[in-house]
Amino acid sequence: MTAIKLDTIFFKKGDYKISVNIICDYTSKINISIYNDSNNISNKYNIEYYNWYNEVSTLKTYHMEFSIIFEDKYNIEITNEENNKIKISSYTLTDQSNQNIIFNSDNRLDCLLLNEISKNLSTSNNGFKYPLISNTFNEDEIFALSKFIISGEKLTMGTHVEAFEKQFANYIGSNYAVMVNSGSSANLLAVAVVANYMYKNKLNPNDEVLVPALCWSTTVWPLIQCGLKPVFVDINPQTMNIDENKIEQYIGPNTKALMIVHVMGNCADMDLIMNIVNKHKLLLIEDTCESLGSSYKNKKLGSFGEFGTYSFYYSHHITTIEGGMVITNDYDSYNLLKSLRAHGWTRNLSKEIQDKYKREFSEIDDRYMFINLGYNLRPMELQAVMGEIQLKKLDDKNINRIYNFNKIKDQIMTDHRNKNLINLPISQTDSYIAWFGLCMYINPLYESKLNDFKNYLTSNSVENRPIITGNFVRQPYFILNNYNYKLDDFPNADLLHNCGLYIGLSCEKYSDESIINLVNIIFDFFLLIDKLK
Ligand SMILES: Cc1ncc(COP(=O)(O)O)c(C=O)c1O
Repeated sequence: MTAIKLDTIFFKKGDYKISVNIICDYTSKINISIYNDSNNISNKYNIEYYNWYNEVSTLKTYHMEFSIIFEDKYNIEITNEENNKIKISSYTLTDQSNQNIIFNSDNRLDCLLLNEISKNLSTSNNGFKYPLISNTFNEDEIFALSKFIISGEKLTMGTHVEAFEKQFANYIGSNYAVMVNSGSSANLLAVAVVANYMYKNKLNPNDEVLVPALCWSTTVWPLIQCGLKPVFVDINPQTMNIDENKIEQYIGPNTKALMIVHVMGNCADMDLIMNIVNKHKLLLIEDTCESLGSSYKNKKLGSFGEFGTYSFYYSHHITTIEGGMVITNDYDSYNLLKSLRAHGWTRNLSKEIQDKYKREFSEIDDRYMFINLGYNLRPMELQAVMGEIQLKKLDDKNINRIYNFNKIKDQIMTDHRNKNLINLPISQTDSYIAWFGLCMYINPLYESKLNDFKNYLTSNSVENRPIITGNFVRQPYFILNNYNYKLDDFPNADLLHNCGLYIGLSCEKYSDESIINLVNIIFDFFLLIDKLK
């Protein structure tokens, strides 16, 4: 007996209709076998088709339709007892109403993926009802990635990276963008450029760079790695960003740059920041890894300074799984970024720059011409394929984030139970804030209960974590290496360190019910501990 395996399909439980087109010659009986791998073959059931029993023909197309109830994973086989001249030309699986095609053999890959995706992606919430991270990608990205892999195109950095860079620069409103393999790499690359011998306003070893005390580790590490000296400035607890009014007191003769962090989507007063930058001729780098899509007076965050950096890590506004970007308006910086991103060679630089070095060092094979102390921070083509799709979705996702933030904030702030218990961040007037997460700090009277609060939220299915790193100056690296920072200088960063946390903000809209439930969970904690007092 010849068996033709039609397919192995994983379908959700359901009542479906299958229609199959078969090309075969004269035959007496065809069996459609549908069986589950995990069961033995005796569980298989056969559908016998005698429709063409009396037909005599050579290689004719027959159409069969039958209903089936799937319960899990099935193999489908077509068998013919008499000869092997069967060819399945196409088959589709529809719902019982025949309205929706669930599987179409002509579009086999998409259908199989779709089934897997609907089964798996919806559950990626870490097991929390209110997870920190919500998935920003779906079948669009997965189809594109799968098709790209099987297309046989080059997988390493190439035309998709270039295209994504252009689209990204265009979105932000900058002249150039250079993609890298993470937000940390973006920071490293930007800092490495300003400390590089080829940079026009090169920073020198031990030059001071002001940085907010509430930041990410790889906002600061590149400064130290490149021989610069981070000088921490306290934050404003209401914006969570650097305190604009404290910056100038830290500016001395060695202060050459300001590296700000746009925290959790939010920003400082960028007019004040730019006044300080211009007045003191500081170089500005904006770590915008948490704030893609936010803007201040219609100018996108990240585009105010010499360099803006972004992260596309899984949890961020858009994701390429890992990935990042540096933007700049300056052509020379753009080329320098590209050289340092890839080995310090000239290969990816503009033609005129390559030609210049070719003339100057004609004895060197110009495909392997190294002019600088480079790294390998290149992204993969796959990441850019994903990024191109993600970028198109960014604004809509951000609208949902903002909707969720505003709804939850309103609910908390107008709740009669909120007697100064919970403080939420505020944004600058004329800003558009694509909130990354919902940060809050509890009344310092409850400081000793912060851990209880975090545990309580976790046990009520609300995932949570500190606001970025808390007061970064308190991290062990500085103690282990005797930096001797004066911790009294950072009372506001400490306030968020000791009383703050953040919870997720989905990029899909929460229902009203879900928001009310979340707010009830939050306030119930305070009732509970007040009772225990
Ligand atoms: C402010 C900030 N800068 C830099 C980074 C580093 O980005 P990545 O995780 O892509 O390396 C992060 C990561 O979350 C961040 O929050």
